[in-house]
Order: sequence, then structure tokens, then C-alpha cells
Amino acid sequence: MVKICCIGAGYVGGPTMAVIALKCPELEVVVVDICASRIDAWNSDKLPIYEPSLDDVVKACRGRNLFFSTDIEKHVADAEILFLSVNTPTKTSGLGAGKAADLTFWEKAARMIADVSNSDKIVVEKSTVPVKTAEAIEKILNHNNNGVKYQVLSNPEFLSEGTAIEDLLYPERVLIGGRETPEGQKAVQTLKDIYARWVPDDLIITTNLWSAELSKLASNAFQAQRVSSINAMSALCEATGASVSEVAYAIGMDSRIGPKFLNSSVGFGGSCFQKDILNLVYICECNSLPDVANYWKQVIRINDYQKRRFLNRVISSMFNTVSGKRIAILGFAFKKDTADTRESASIFVSQGLLREKAIISIYDPKVTEDQIQYDLATNKLDWDNQVPQQPMSPTARKQVTVMWDPYEATKGAHAVCILTEWDEFKDLDYKKIYDGMQKPAFMFDGRNMVDPVKLREIGFIVYSIGRPLDPWLLDMPAVA
Ligand code: NAD
Ligand code: UDX
Repeated sequence: MVKICCIGAGYVGGPTMAVIALKCPELEVVVVDICASRIDAWNSDKLPIYEPSLDDVVKACRGRNLFFSTDIEKHVADAEILFLSVNTPTKTSGLGAGKAADLTFWEKAARMIADVSNSDKIVVEKSTVPVKTAEAIEKILNHNNNGVKYQVLSNPEFLSEGTAIEDLLYPERVLIGGRETPEGQKAVQTLKDIYARWVPDDLIITTNLWSAELSKLASNAFQAQRVSSINAMSALCEATGASVSEVAYAIGMDSRIGPKFLNSSVGFGGSCFQKDILNLVYICECNSLPDVANYWKQVIRINDYQKRRFLNRVISSMFNTVSGKRIAILGFAFKKDTADTRESASIFVSQGLLREKAIISIYDPKVTEDQIQYDLATNKLDWDNQVPQQPMSPTARKQVTVMWDPYEATKGAHAVCILTEWDEFKDLDYKKIYDGMQKPAFMFDGRNMVDPVKLREIGFIVYSIGRPLDPWLLDMPAVA
């Protein structure tokens, strides 16, 4: 039985390996991690991440040919193919802080592979890494000259959270980059044979290593750029009376543009878009391409602008003060169908409201109270100014309550902010919510989930991102 080991049991390592195990019962797949509690959770009935259909896939093969373990060195030594799926966050200190990828976890894993290996291995980069990282990993692996031969491949992952299992079962493409030597091409073919068990041949693309590494960064940058483009338009729509969803629909009908990723929002979040664009910016700067770097930087600047614009709109609409007012936040995850909150716009908006001394009650169907309190209290680096953003003070902590019911969260509130596009927010009983709120009752829809006309009929003052402004708001311009 060919043995595969994946280092890193996170949002990528867990689901990716579960699908490989499901589709290739003749392979033994072991996922290892330094975090014992995460491995315990993977071995339990409550998996460490929420992802639709993930439970079913894990249950189908866990204990059969899928295993989760903290015995890292043993499984690395035994495996023929190693996937590296550790986190590669943005550096928060030192050279390149706020932009460059922090390769600490990745390098530690690579050194450990070099230390414990005594048989030839294919090492597959699954993590998103800067271009030319494969060259660095080759140097680390070959430094320990004990006769073991390694082939390094780049096989970036394109799954999105919330649809990970579907993305893995029916990928639009699988990308494999390898060295253009006979040994490199043989390793590419070995990995290709694994995916070929369920992915059509024409969807498995092979390239050189650097194209594969760069394609991942480019792909995320292009997607984020679309969201920033439509969000930039949303500000102009509000200023002119156009409706951003109508504009998006009209331009998306053009096959050269296409309809996807044109939903205007309170700003994109997630662990990938900002991190990977900053990484791209840093690589451009290191390659003396400041104009290219500035072009991509602007995608993040517009995202910051959009989050700030939303927050300021809330405050300015409510007579420029939210001090002592109760504001309900519906949605804390960075998108629907995940409990992941990394870089969620909800964190930015909630922290901003708390700084203005609002009292906030938060409802999200999947995110736990501990996670919310942690996110609101955590110090983050402002990438543009290289200074830590203010965390929440202990006093502000008392101003946050987390509810498990949207009607409880909105009871007695002066305003509601919809910040994640959970489907259930479309069908809430907004009359009931309105009746329980203070008047005037404000609705700030950062995801275009509600029908503003119907809500205005109920009595709400409605702000819907990128849509014609409520007459109330026309007299209260927001400064972004
Ligand atoms: P994650 O933080 O959820 O998981 C990473 C795991 O690696 C953690 O559990 C951590 O404990 C473990 N780890 C770190 N160092 C280790 C070591 N030396 N040995 C063993 N385990 C170690 O991260 P993620 O979201 O799964 O992302 C992983 C990589 O995949 C990143 O490079 C990311 O950019 C990329 N990626 C993520 C997504 C996504 O949707 N989350 C999609 C595509 C690509
Ligand atoms: C992204 C990429 O889609 C995926 O290919 C890559 O592997 C990892 O990064 P993810 O971050 O999980 O995936 O989710 P995605 O669906 O891309 O959404 C990212 C953010 O953009 C979310 O906050 C989402 O709400 C926002 N978004 C997306 C919009 O605001 N409008 C859109 O039209 C689409």
C-alpha cells in the first residue's frame, strides 16, 4: 500500500486528504499535526472545522485508509509522498513585516523531513507559498546529505471554504508543477495518477514549478480584484442612484466578464485573499517592480475602504454617535457555510463600533462565543501602516454579548448589521425583529440579503450596500 502523509491538519490538509482517501482506497493516508487538540478533534465526532459534507467523507474512510496522528516523525519517515499543508501567514515582525509570507512553520516542517527521512520521497507543496519556494525547500532537503533523493512538486489548492468538498470532488482544474528533468516528470506523473482516479485527464494541468507557484497567487489576486472592483462601483452607485446588483448583472452578462464574484459586500475576508495579495506585492517589490506592486496593493486598499465606509455609514446615519446604543451583528464568519473568522469584515466593524462605545450583540449560526471574544481581543498588524491595530479593551469586552438566536440578538437594538451572507438571514421574520427594536430602527445590510423596499414598508431605515440610498441617509453623508 502506497503511503501518503500530509503535514498540517487544517482547513486544507484535512478535507484534501479525506477526499484522496475516499477516492483512492488502495492508498494509506495519514494527516499529522503538531496541534494535539486538533488531531483529537479529527479523531472525534466533532471535527475541528465545519464544512458541508466533510463529516460524511471522513466517516467513510477514517480508520480504513485515513488516519490522523501526532506521531509526525514516524509517519513522515514511512511515507513515499509527503504533502506540506502548514499555515503560511503574513509576517508580523522583521523584514517584510505586514507583507511577506511567514515561512517559519513551513521551514520547520521541511527541516524535520530532512532529519527523519531514510527513503526517497516526493514532497508536494500544498500550502500557498512565494514563487521559488520549491528551490528553497530543495536546498533544505538536500542539505542533509544522507543519500535520500527528493522530488519537490507544487500542487496548489484552489478549494474555497464552505464548498471545499464539492471543490475537491469536482475541481475545475488540478495544477501540478515539477522540475523538467526525467525524475521531476516521473514524480509529476505519480501525483497525476492519484488525481486521475476521479479527475478527468484534461483538467489536470502540468507546468513548471514556478508557474504553478505563481498561478496560485495570481488566481487569488484576480478573484479578490473582482470583488474590489464591484465594491468600488458600489460607492459610485450610492452616490448616483444606480443599483450595484443591477450593474453587476448587466456587466456579468458579457461573456468576457462573466457573472461570478461580482457580489458587492462589506469587504472580502478569509485567510487567503489579503495574505496572498500582500505576498504578491512583496515579491513584486523584491523584484524591483514597484508599479506592479502598487497595482495589486490597491485591491486591498479598496477592501479596507469598503469596510471603513460601511462602519462610518452606520455611525453617521445614527446622528454620528452609537455610544450606549445597542447594535445587533448578524454573521461573524468571513462567508457563509464556514465557522472560519480569519480576516472577517465582522471583526473590523465590531471593533470599530466598540471603540465608539456601542453595545453589541452578535449572532452567527456556527461561530462560537470563545472565537468571537478571541477575535475581538486580538492585536493585528495594520499592513499599510505597520502598526498594531487596537485590540478590544477589557471594558469593551463587557459590551459584547453573543447570542444563539437572531431574534434575541436583535431585541432592544437600535440597529442591525448583516455582515455574513448566511442563507437564513433572507428568511428571518423582519416584522418581528422590527417590533422588538428601538425606533427609529436601522438596518445596515452589508451583503444585500434583504429586500430594502419590503423592509422600508415595515418601517426600517435601510442601508443596502451599493443600492439607492434611503431618503434618511441622503441628509447624513458618511466620510470614508
Ligand atoms: P490552518 O492554519 O487551518 O492549518 C495549518 C495546520 O498546520 C495547523 O493545524 C498547524 O498546527 C499545522 N502545522 C504548522 N506547522 C506544523 C509542523 N511543523 N508540523 C505539523 N503541523 C504543523 O491553515 P489552512 O487554512 O489549512 O492553510 C494551509 C495552507 O493552504 C496555507 O498556505 C494557505 O494559504 C493555503 N490554502 C488555504 C485555503 C483555505 O481556504 N483555507 C485554500 C487554499 C490554500
Ligand atoms: C478563496 C478562493 O476562492 C479559493 O480558490 C482559494 O483556494 C482560497 O481563497 P475562500 O477565501 O475560502 O477561497 O472564499 P471565497 O469564496 O473566495 O470568498 C472570499 C471572500 O470574498 C469572502 O469574504 C466572500 O464573502 C467575499 N466575496 C466573494 C464577496 O464579497 N463577493 C463575491 O462576489 C465573492
